[in-house]
Amino acid sequence: MLAGINAPKANMKTLKSRRAMLDTLMRHLDMVRLSAGITAALLIGCTGLISGDEGGGAGSTPEAAIALQKFTTDAYPVFSTVCAACHIGMDPKFLAASAAVADPVKTMRATLLGFDPAVVNLEAPASSRVLTKGAHSGPALDAIQSAAILGWLQAEKDAAGAATTTVIITTDKITPLLCTGGVAGDIAGCTTGDASHCCPINVVTLDSAGMPGAEVDFVAQPLSSDLYVSDIYVKASTAGVYMEHPLFVSWPVTGDPIPDTIDRFFAVKLNLAAATAAVTCPGPSCDHIGAGAAAFVGFPPQNRLSITFKVLEAAHPTNTMPVASAGCGTMGFASFLSAVKPDIQPCATMCHGGSNAGAKNAMDLSGLASTTDNNTCLQVRAHVNFQTVAQSGVLLAPQAGADAAHPFKLAAGSTPTIADFQTKLNTWISVEASEQ
Ligand code: HEC
Repeated sequence: MLAGINAPKANMKTLKSRRAMLDTLMRHLDMVRLSAGITAALLIGCTGLISGDEGGGAGSTPEAAIALQKFTTDAYPVFSTVCAACHIGMDPKFLAASAAVADPVKTMRATLLGFDPAVVNLEAPASSRVLTKGAHSGPALDAIQSAAILGWLQAEKDAAGAATTTVIITTDKITPLLCTGGVAGDIAGCTTGDASHCCPINVVTLDSAGMPGAEVDFVAQPLSSDLYVSDIYVKASTAGVYMEHPLFVSWPVTGDPIPDTIDRFFAVKLNLAAATAAVTCPGPSCDHIGAGAAAFVGFPPQNRLSITFKVLEAAHPTNTMPVASAGCGTMGFASFLSAVKPDIQPCATMCHGGSNAGAKNAMDLSGLASTTDNNTCLQVRAHVNFQTVAQSGVLLAPQAGADAAHPFKLAAGSTPTIADFQTKLNTWISVEASEQ
């Protein structure tokens, strides 16, 4: 059933179906989500998850028919009753179904599947934004509604998979060098046994994934049975690099691979300019992936790691090549000083200012006192998810129950309170976002 997934040659860009690999990985993802327990109703949605790789043409397969039927009977009623009031007529209009079209059900489905930026993710249906959005100006979905939509998305995934066989793009598996203390790159103590000065930078080359010369760098810290990865940077080669949807995968010695349980980088699209000289980070040829840090819950630190990509190729020659950030924006830094600095001071005092090397490494607040050097603002900004602000690492790390790997929590009675802290950071984040 898991044929081929542990085959030793799977690290090369092979003609093995990416979907077969992702099926195995994502099935684990779905199981994690299930055990995190929404409702048994979800199980119904999963029964059709695995189907053969061979398939017929798109649109005419039995899988496609099932997907349309599930949309019609399960998802459409939910979208039209709880979400359509806003999302037909107001941005983002991902439910827009033109009244002029005879079949509003089919139009809505097509709009949802084709909407840009994507609100559905067929490779990891459970992380689709329509499911994970939660309460906003609109309501959160309840468990039954989520299950109905997830069931439909699983069916779409089967339908899409039945029609295509794609190439898996993955790095070699590496055994991560673990950081036990000191600043990133300090390896003086690694050989002498001084754990407080041993913090190697892991370099994962993208050669075997088809982008020779490019690399992903990161620092890995063990957290009991989990792995905290920070300073995750992509460095382009002389060809530049374009990547979509990196997925970190943890490989036990035996047994199935464990994909990032929340597939947090599914929305990442990174386009970096060709490197012309030594690459500095961040810079035009180097940027962080997502928030640049991730607590991979359930990744045993001794496991090997690999990274798969949906797309990995030379930089896209585009006049919208993103300009990598050199610091927080002018207004952003001003807002950071007034809104964030006072409330984040305790984090600097306790750990992130230097008294805890690992914490400083992950988010360096040692320059917080400066009113001219905005590197500290940039450090904090690296932990903001501008795509889905509520999922920003810096907002969730101190929240009880949110980021299990972060040892320190603010509470309702702390100074600042968790609510205050998040409100202040959000004030600043909205200013930063408007300057991007
Ligand atoms: C009362 C109006 C309203 C309703 C009802 C509503 N939304 Fe929204 N939604 C918004 C607004 C406004 C935005 C844009 C601002 C934001 O992202 O919060 C939005 C944005 C979104 C986005 C884009 C999110 C992103 O992270 O980019 C998604 C996905 C979404 N809504 C899902 C839903 C779902 C699913 C429902 C039904 C359960 C729903 N919404 C119901 C008002 C609404």
